[in-house]
Amino acid sequence: AEKWVLMVTAQTPTNIAVIKYWGKRDENLILPINDSISVTLDPQHLCTTTSVAVSPAFTHDRMWLNGKEISLSGGRYQNCLRELRARASDVEDEEKGIKIAKKDWEKLHVHIASYNNFPTAAGLASSAAGFACLVFSLAKLMNVKEDHSKLSAIARQGSGSACRSLYGGFVKWIMGKEENGSDSIAVQLADEKHWGDLVIIIAVVSSRQKETSSTSGMRETVETSMLIEHRAKEVVPRRIIQMEEAIKDHDFPSFSRLACSDSNQFHAVCLDTSPPIFYMNDTSHRIISCIEKWNRFEGTPQVAYTFDAGPNAVLIAHNRNAAKLLLQRLLFYFPPQSDTDLSRYSLPSHVDFY
Ligand code: PMV
Repeated sequence: AEKWVLMVTAQTPTNIAVIKYWGKRDENLILPINDSISVTLDPQHLCTTTSVAVSPAFTHDRMWLNGKEISLSGGRYQNCLRELRARASDVEDEEKGIKIAKKDWEKLHVHIASYNNFPTAAGLASSAAGFACLVFSLAKLMNVKEDHSKLSAIARQGSGSACRSLYGGFVKWIMGKEENGSDSIAVQLADEKHWGDLVIIIAVVSSRQKETSSTSGMRETVETSMLIEHRAKEVVPRRIIQMEEAIKDHDFPSFSRLACSDSNQFHAVCLDTSPPIFYMNDTSHRIISCIEKWNRFEGTPQVAYTFDAGPNAVLIAHNRNAAKLLLQRLLFYFPPQSDTDLSRYSLPSHVDFY
């Protein structure tokens, strides 16, 4: 047999939604019930690095996550692999004397090795970075000649929020209308330089794995919540327009009010689910109170908070000065304990911590 290996490595950051995606209208294709908007973090923080390789010596597709082999048999992996193989093109590496014809990709197998530079179990949107990176690196390896928006529609089938990690800066995931999901794609609203003053701080409240996965949580909410339809149809469409406006104008007070309200409404529909889903804990609630009080005291918001399907706080400070004060306050009210780790991540540059 021929002895060669062709490899590609890529790195993809995670993203944090400021207008949340919660609820699917199609579970297999992962089509959402509303648009969402997120901010992609700096590539050096909270990111996934994935190497993908192809060789005639590989007998089946395999994947390792953080060094441990995991199964690729799930529908989400299979959907991504099938979509990419169908779009693969000829690949030629003259230096190595490798030639792969378009039709060969149906028979060739890939090995995938993926690493997260942050705790996978901490509920910090690891699947968003993970699937975005998997799709991007395989697309490069297979010479898939599609643009980022088409690739986002493939990453979406791995994990909904992953489609937004194909772009940096501020990103909108358009829910789309088509039944086949072809128009449910991510678009970039503004690049990472557009609002460079913002500083994102992630307060890890608990690194325990969440109790309710986003998949089953969304299903239960859509099936039982009376509020979710109101949220998806009446509230989010208006907030999307206002959020786009706030981002365009660097309007931090509006940005902050919208992000905080939307996070709170997402957790309210979780509470309205039967049985209720609790993602936040007492510490999360205390962080919210602390920031609400500070913002009220200052008269104009200094920091926005948002919480995903877990108790960890994502705090977005208006600028470096607000971030510095925020860190001082957080450390004063919430001194780090054994399982508490206050890390800081920023867009686009670090906070100088004291
Ligand atoms: O893409 P998933 O299945 O991990 O769901 C993500 C859901 C939230 O993080 C809670 C919201 C969002 O828009 O990212």
